[in-house]
Amino acid sequence: MNRVAQKTVLITGAANGLGRETAKLLAAEGATVWMTDIDDAAGKEVAAKINGEGGRATYLHHDVAVPEAWESVFGSIREHHSKLDILVNNAGGGTYNDIETVTFAEWRRIMSINLDATFLGTQMAIKWMKETSGGSIVNVSSVVAFIGSPNLAAYCAAKADIHLLSKSAAVYSGQKGL
Ligand SMILES: NC(=O)c1ccc[n+]([C@@H]2O[C@H](COP(=O)([O-])OP(=O)(O)OC[C@H]3O[C@@H](n4cnc5c(N)ncnc54)[C@H](O)[C@@H]3O)[C@@H](O)[C@H]2O)c1
Repeated sequence: MNRVAQKTVLITGAANGLGRETAKLLAAEGATVWMTDIDDAAGKEVAAKINGEGGRATYLHHDVAVPEAWESVFGSIREHHSKLDILVNNAGGGTYNDIETVTFAEWRRIMSINLDATFLGTQMAIKWMKETSGGSIVNVSSVVAFIGSPNLAAYCAAKADIHLLSKSAAVYSGQKGL
């Protein structure tokens, strides 16, 4: 208990599902929560509910596949906080497709919202956390990163890549004393 009290947290894909529940839980535990998503109606509703129950939450529109959008979100948080304690790279998802039928456009879309987004968030968070002596980054993967589902070709690949990206970033951060 109280492990996240007074901590500043950014959660992507926080308007629905696991991201929404993560935001609610961390806010209930005392964190100041920055929630981002592309589903603005749902995101604003969740933030209002958290604030109505005595928590601290702010919702921002944020397409995680767009590098400039990350710059904007980090800029907004920096206006209010000197430190980002926790980033949860949660936004993501996939559609059913197999290796024969998945189009290149769909492959790229799934790679961008899962893998590119996790890269962008992890890189930006490490740069800020380096200035402020550390923090935590949680990258959300999936069991299909390990089992190679036949109907989730692009999603399996994107989630599996998140593992090695995270390991590489973790070892790098350890070497830097973060
Ligand atoms: N639910 C599961 O069973 C499960 C299992 C394994 C992994 N995951 C992973 O957990 C995470 C959350 O999954 P969920 O089930 O809560 O999904 P969800 O669909 O309920 O929520 C995902 C959220 O991400 C948002 N999102 C989608 N594209 C976005 C983008 N480009 N920019 C910003 N936000 C975007 C959506 O609007 C939505 O609010 C995802 O990374 C998913 O791959 C989920």
